[in-house]
Amino acid sequence: MNTFDRRSILRAGLLAAGAGVLSACTASPSTANLVLPSDPRVAEAEARRHTSGQVRTVRLTARPGPVDLGGPQVSTWTYDGVLPGKEIRVRAGDTIHAELTNRLPAETSVHWHGLALRNDMDGAPGLTQQAIGTGASFTYRFVAEQPGTYWFHPHSGTQLDRGLYVPLIVEDPHEPGGYDHDWVVVLDDWIDGTGQTPDDVLATLRQGMGSMGGMMGSPSGMGGSSPLLGGDAGDLRYPHYLINGRVPAAPATFTARPGQRARIRIINAGSDTAFRVALGGHRLRVTHTDGYPVQPAETDTLLIAMGERYDVTTTLDDGVFPLVALAEGKNATALALVRTGAGTPPPATIRPAELDRDRVTYDRLVPADEVRLPAKSPDVTHTLDLTGGMMNYDWGINGQPLDMGRRLLVQQGQRVRFVLRNRTMMWHPIHVHGHTFQLGDSGPRKDTVAVLPGQTVTGNLDASNPGQWMIHCHNTYHAETGMAAILGYQT
Ligand code: C2O
Ligand code: CU
Repeated sequence: MNTFDRRSILRAGLLAAGAGVLSACTASPSTANLVLPSDPRVAEAEARRHTSGQVRTVRLTARPGPVDLGGPQVSTWTYDGVLPGKEIRVRAGDTIHAELTNRLPAETSVHWHGLALRNDMDGAPGLTQQAIGTGASFTYRFVAEQPGTYWFHPHSGTQLDRGLYVPLIVEDPHEPGGYDHDWVVVLDDWIDGTGQTPDDVLATLRQGMGSMGGMMGSPSGMGGSSPLLGGDAGDLRYPHYLINGRVPAAPATFTARPGQRARIRIINAGSDTAFRVALGGHRLRVTHTDGYPVQPAETDTLLIAMGERYDVTTTLDDGVFPLVALAEGKNATALALVRTGAGTPPPATIRPAELDRDRVTYDRLVPADEVRLPAKSPDVTHTLDLTGGMMNYDWGINGQPLDMGRRLLVQQGQRVRFVLRNRTMMWHPIHVHGHTFQLGDSGPRKDTVAVLPGQTVTGNLDASNPGQWMIHCHNTYHAETGMAAILGYQT
């Protein structure tokens, strides 16, 4: 088996698991007695979720087509022709019934990033479902129990680095509110349809660094470097950086009145870019990380890794203000505008001073009392060394690319600790499916955490969502080449 083809690995894994011969087939006895997506425990966990009784039906068609980025015209893949895809907004406890039709020339899937949903709806092909073939359909149906800012995207190949991403907002019926506007800001790094597809990019990266001179107009330094990221900023420089699907020359504009309060939900849907975000002339109050509340923390700017979400609130001044997402270490920006009054818009290249002022970091964030994990010593600890590099493009965990025959074993009811040790020269945003861990013993609740080179980061979670769950780097190219593992509930 070609270990670099995740799709074929996953397909083999699903077939083996489905046939009940996984342990025999992989000679790894530790993979026996897994709680598979079809296990009754998965449906039982779903039945315990609090439901509102409301069902929200949505239809999504993934298809190729043209998109206008606000000047640049590109041919790409989207949901229903729009970028980002049309936001889904439900209330906590609603059932999402999403019918996906695949009109792409490739297999696809939908992963509901950050949601603690039933395992068989998690959208990991080969692990929780069969990939959805060209022309085929699949219906996702699950309870969205936990309020917050989420999003969804394919879990197939490099499709996330095309235009296939959509915000999913689960509103809290008990939200105290206190704001007049609720804005969603989706950040992205863009290459598709500019002469290369993400598959072309992956093919080049896989050849290793020796072959990459001159790639993407960046003969040295590849994806740039940043002290905030502890070294290399990424593997790639992109032709465009977008907010809500627009280049800075034609920014999305949010309008309000002076003195109003805005809640801004920021989602990094990029594939290889951390964004440093600020709103010119404003302080920001961080209220949520990855959907979960924190004790409000004031800041001028925040660094957002791929897959992360932050909710902030702010009281709007009078005028026209740049909302800027600096592509960290890549010397380029994405832009949106906030307009509350008369004024000339700032130039497309504006970099508000706030970007270089006070920046909130993980260690300043404290979970809200209602989402703090009760103190408990771990029942099981898994250590994951993040390994590999650009030279051979051999990203992995514990020195190996994803192996479907291996599991990080846990049991329902356990307190699980995972220790992420970054042994590489690059930072990695590590994402856990189906769970929201607590960072360290008292940090914020997160489902995605940036781990800098040389750093060790600990996460703690309660194993309350039975099934088989991916844990992986949310750099699209690192995940696709193998920086991934599977958290496996055992019976
Ligand atoms: Cu948003 Cu497995 O990822
Ligand atoms: Cu990575």
